[in-house]
Amino acid sequence: MDMDRFSNIIKAAGGRKIAVIGDLMLDVYVWGRANRISQEAPVPVVQVRKQTQTLGGASNVMRNIVSLGGSVIPFGVVGNDEAGKKLLSLFGEHGIDSDFVISDPGRSTTQKQRVIAGTQQLVRIDYENIEPVSDSIRSKLTEGLIGTIERDEVHAVIFEDYAKGVLNKESVDAINRASLKKGLITALDPHPSQPFEVRELTLMTPNRQEAFALSGTYHKEPVRPVLKDATLMEVADKIMKNWNPRYLLITLGAEGMALYEKGRECLVVPTRAREVFDVSGAGDTVIASFVMALLGGAEPAEAAEISNHAAGVVVGKIGTASIAVDELCQSFFERS
Ligand SMILES: Nc1ncnc2c1ncn2[C@@H]1O[C@H](COP(=O)(O)OP(=O)(O)OP(=O)(O)O)[C@@H](O)[C@H]1O
Ligand SMILES: [Mg+2]
Repeated sequence: MDMDRFSNIIKAAGGRKIAVIGDLMLDVYVWGRANRISQEAPVPVVQVRKQTQTLGGASNVMRNIVSLGGSVIPFGVVGNDEAGKKLLSLFGEHGIDSDFVISDPGRSTTQKQRVIAGTQQLVRIDYENIEPVSDSIRSKLTEGLIGTIERDEVHAVIFEDYAKGVLNKESVDAINRASLKKGLITALDPHPSQPFEVRELTLMTPNRQEAFALSGTYHKEPVRPVLKDATLMEVADKIMKNWNPRYLLITLGAEGMALYEKGRECLVVPTRAREVFDVSGAGDTVIASFVMALLGGAEPAEAAEISNHAAGVVVGKIGTASIAVDELCQSFFERS
């Protein structure tokens, strides 16, 4: 793909509206220095310099869409707590309208706190409830989203499953059926503990391990080159058969990604060597940028190339990160 084609896709994707439903999270980073070992236990003492908070989980997908020029309607749940308030205020700062985000006093907001000394993560502390949300909350979210589809308010739907209680098979099925009627793009980032088998999605983006789990295959170490990885190919075949998505994109970490489409050879998109600081959130960037590219008229192979660039940029940043249009352009420009 040349620079002109790339720019046209990105431009055409601008302003497209995507509904994202899934597990919202607040990512908290405690930044500091560790110069000594504690006298209380053999652990480093971190002198804190600052604390930052960002959108994580499904909300990181949302942030990535916005920074790529799209707009988002979020569907999800927060607790009635400080972290929940912070999440809502971060939505506001990113210009994301959170009318369909439900505050549930019976839950705590999912929060992941990372302590970083220099550039080294020392520990992660999670706060979460992983019980399914109540039926009434689930139907509010599902019906709310289906309403936006029926009123032609969205161009695509992303299901971002971290298995923290928001999504189940029935809701994903119902929303997907409504989307199919309207010919909308639907994409699922699946969680292996919830192998829904929702058929006819436009896109699924499991990583390698998730793909093995979804297909019920015992995990095997990767074989190089990717096209010679017979077990991976079997796993992809099984997912294509059981779920029948239009595109299956298996992300392979430092090996890049493999794109499967019915009746086509597997396409492997390798990453380019670069400095990697933090791979967390790379999957969020992949699904956001792939869907945005499709909305901009990209062919699936072009969307894979774009999302591979986008993910390559965010793994070079510390912390869950998003990518802006100019950074994506820069990455393309450097390559060409
Ligand atoms: N070490 C790396 N070097 C270069 N690119 C990478 C590296 N790790 C990940 N990526 C890029 O990020 C994409 C997604 O990474 P990965 O397969 O690890 O997803 P994931 O496990 O879903 O990530 P997440 O932590 O967000 O859930 C890869 O397809 C690749 O483009
Ligand atoms: Mg992932």
